[in-house]
Amino acid sequence: MPIVNRIADFHQELAAWRHEIHAHPETAFEELGTAEFVARRLQEFGISVYRGLAGTGVIGTLAGARPGGRAIALRADMDALPIQERNGFDYASQNPGKMHACGHDGHTVMLLGAARYLAETRNFAGTVHFIFQPAEENEGGGRVMVREGLFEKFPVEAVFGMHNWPGMPAGKFALRAGPMMASYDIFEITVKGKGAHAALPHLGVDPVIAAAQIAMGLQTITSRNTSPLDSAVVSVTQIHGGDTWNVIPDEVVLRGTTRSFKSELQDAIEAAIRRIAEGVAAAMGAGVALRYERRYPPTVNSAAESDVAAAIASEVVGEANVDRDVTPTMGAEDFAFMLQAKPGAYVFIGNGPSNGAGLHNPHYDFNDEILPIGASYWARLVERLLAKGP
Ligand code: NI
Repeated sequence: MPIVNRIADFHQELAAWRHEIHAHPETAFEELGTAEFVARRLQEFGISVYRGLAGTGVIGTLAGARPGGRAIALRADMDALPIQERNGFDYASQNPGKMHACGHDGHTVMLLGAARYLAETRNFAGTVHFIFQPAEENEGGGRVMVREGLFEKFPVEAVFGMHNWPGMPAGKFALRAGPMMASYDIFEITVKGKGAHAALPHLGVDPVIAAAQIAMGLQTITSRNTSPLDSAVVSVTQIHGGDTWNVIPDEVVLRGTTRSFKSELQDAIEAAIRRIAEGVAAAMGAGVALRYERRYPPTVNSAAESDVAAAIASEVVGEANVDRDVTPTMGAEDFAFMLQAKPGAYVFIGNGPSNGAGLHNPHYDFNDEILPIGASYWARLVERLLAKGP
């Protein structure tokens, strides 16, 4: 059974909504216009709307035509990125420095498409909650929603998420049970030396050299401290220090990110960063201050819900087009917080060829051809999971 016919009927309307949202991108926790757009559509469909969770979050709640006590949630993210769009099409971003470069415009519309169809047909028993969350990028809107009582206000037995994947053909899905995306932590190391004239280095403590040694030392964490069978990344992404040619500065700041699939590894990596930074600095007579922040946990799919998600995806696009054992990525996703709270599954939907413009690229665009595919997946997931009444 392929795309839902009724959803295919309003494909052009979905594309128009997507363009509307694409042209007016809003970044973390400022998704006021997008939230308004989403709430209006849901109300037009006759779906009850709850607003204000995590600021701009919107939750639509729909009961099936048949009685049932079960409930599930489907989640889409609404936020854009602080990127200047380089696309020239007529629905390109009208907000300077902001862009839907991760396809959250498409995610929002695929879920709206499913909501419209399900509100028309209500061919299920129980309740579905449509979660439209803010601030997926960096700021953890998913964490805020969970903290503000998402699943106490809207109790569910499982929660499902979806992200487009450029480079994967349109009409394909991919997922895996277990870890699918990595944890995302950040660190900042301030190396404290003693400033001096560059011609008289013996009178100071050089934080530039200490910082360089620390940056190299951090490279040994994944080669010497974590198991070769565990995936982990430690990337130093910034080094800031000094203002001119002939002055050894007082301080240098290193920043970076770490990724892994296990919370024990997050602990081990944090401890190793501290040991190396403090030890190397001490060896050179310098001091350090370390800030290590856990941003997102790993995104881990539960086994039963992954099976269900794969079966539904197979219904929509055919068994051969569903990869049930996709290679995990070291990217991160704040849907992880919802999966920590509830069982569920996160799937990738193929966005077609990336043509060198992958996610977060100023030339990226969501592929309108997959709107009815994603919407059909959501719709069938509800109809199958909530097929039976009490
Ligand atoms: Ni994204």
